[in-house]
Amino acid sequence: MEYKILLPGLCCILFAYYVYTPIPENVEEYWKVAILDAAMKTSSLTATLFENVGLIKYRDFFSLLVNTLLTKAVSDENITVIDTDISDIPVRLYLPKKKSERRRPAVIYIHGGAFVVGSTKLMPYDFLNRWTANKLDAVVLGIDYRLAPQHQFPAAIDDCVSVVKIFLQDKILAKYGVDPTRICISGDSSGGTLVAILTQMLQDDPEFKDKIKAQALIYPGLQFIDTLTPSYREYEHGPFLSKEVAINLASLYLTKDKELRRAALRNEHMPQDSRHLFKFVNWSVFLPEKYKKNHVYTEPILGKLNSSYPKFPHNRISPLLASDSQLQNLPLTYVLTCEHDILRDDGLIYVKRLRNAGVPVTHDHIEEGIHGALSFTTAPLFLNLGLRIRDKYISWLEKNL
Ligand SMILES: *[C@@H]1O[C@H](CO)[C@@H](O)[C@H](O)[C@H]1NC(C)=O
Ligand SMILES: *[C@@H]1O[C@H](CO)[C@@H](O)[C@H](O)[C@H]1NC(C)=O
Ligand SMILES: *[C@@H]1O[C@H](CO)[C@@H](O)[C@H](O)[C@H]1NC(C)=O
Repeated sequence: MEYKILLPGLCCILFAYYVYTPIPENVEEYWKVAILDAAMKTSSLTATLFENVGLIKYRDFFSLLVNTLLTKAVSDENITVIDTDISDIPVRLYLPKKKSERRRPAVIYIHGGAFVVGSTKLMPYDFLNRWTANKLDAVVLGIDYRLAPQHQFPAAIDDCVSVVKIFLQDKILAKYGVDPTRICISGDSSGGTLVAILTQMLQDDPEFKDKIKAQALIYPGLQFIDTLTPSYREYEHGPFLSKEVAINLASLYLTKDKELRRAALRNEHMPQDSRHLFKFVNWSVFLPEKYKKNHVYTEPILGKLNSSYPKFPHNRISPLLASDSQLQNLPLTYVLTCEHDILRDDGLIYVKRLRNAGVPVTHDHIEEGIHGALSFTTAPLFLNLGLRIRDKYISWLEKNL
């Protein structure tokens, strides 16, 4: 009984405290973002407390919150929406109803959520994918890949690869009336990570080479090597996505061992023999001057993690590790970055590296933007910024797919 009164009370106090903690002034819709930011920080602290007293796991707390936004497959006057499986992996398909003379483009969408929460069935993704199907007269496929920590690396990328390889078969494309020359893979945040890796893998596979026309990465995370880029430093405490929340959640994709998250927060998580990887993500080389400001490059510290720690194939986690010769074969690319985002520099570095390799890239940078805004395009949390991001992404698709 006392818990039931104390906890909401504590949350209110925390929330009130956080909501008056300043966030950057030029953020669009300041008060709405301040509320979102405070809600996120309160949730993170509550989740930490709950985990420490053994009530519920940190990640499960976030899942509970997020899963209140799950939707059913509801068709409307224009689009037939179907939940089905491809290769035993749940997917949601959006099929335009209108008769079409010619075959349609397709967009494969991979949702965000730090590899541990979320679903293509969440309201904001349902809204976005329906909107995409309507605006582009496209077939849209949302993938519900398996989530960590129940299913750790490489479950997420394996699922995406399996679904896409089946979807790309001629007979499946024909079944849904998809034009095989007009297929884009898109995703936001950790979904963007998966899209970038997936696109690289398909391009390296003789059977699937050149089958993807374009990729779209919306505020993607593209490396888990250096957690002290200028954007990690400047936006360590958010708004919205703090370094702590990002690393606490995303590290569960690799291991439940908390030592990794502790080491990653200090930028000391890379193994002894990994220095040769730094050149691919060295921000002091790839970041435009404007974003370097007065920051001084410091190398991640090696070998602090227990050497018995499992080793991961880093290029299946950090798509920025692809070599220039791998990058140069990649398709037309869209990258959207937000200024107030720890992952800003991941996107900026990828843009630079892709352009150096000769890949045509469209880059939209939103000065007033925050991470995750595309997930706030429906009631009760509605940001104009989210709609702006959606419209930029859709208009790029309209012109390029
Ligand atoms: C169906 O398409 C029409 C024409 O594009 C549009 O005006 C209408 O809002 C769409 N309906 C829904 C439910 O999206
Ligand atoms: C990173 O780049 C700087 C030049 O800006 C260079 O001095 C440094 O050696 C590089 N470090 C690594 C590990 O690549
Ligand atoms: C490294 O991990 C192993 C197995 O988890 C453990 O037995 C050992 O004590 C650890 N070593 C250090 C230095 O933490």
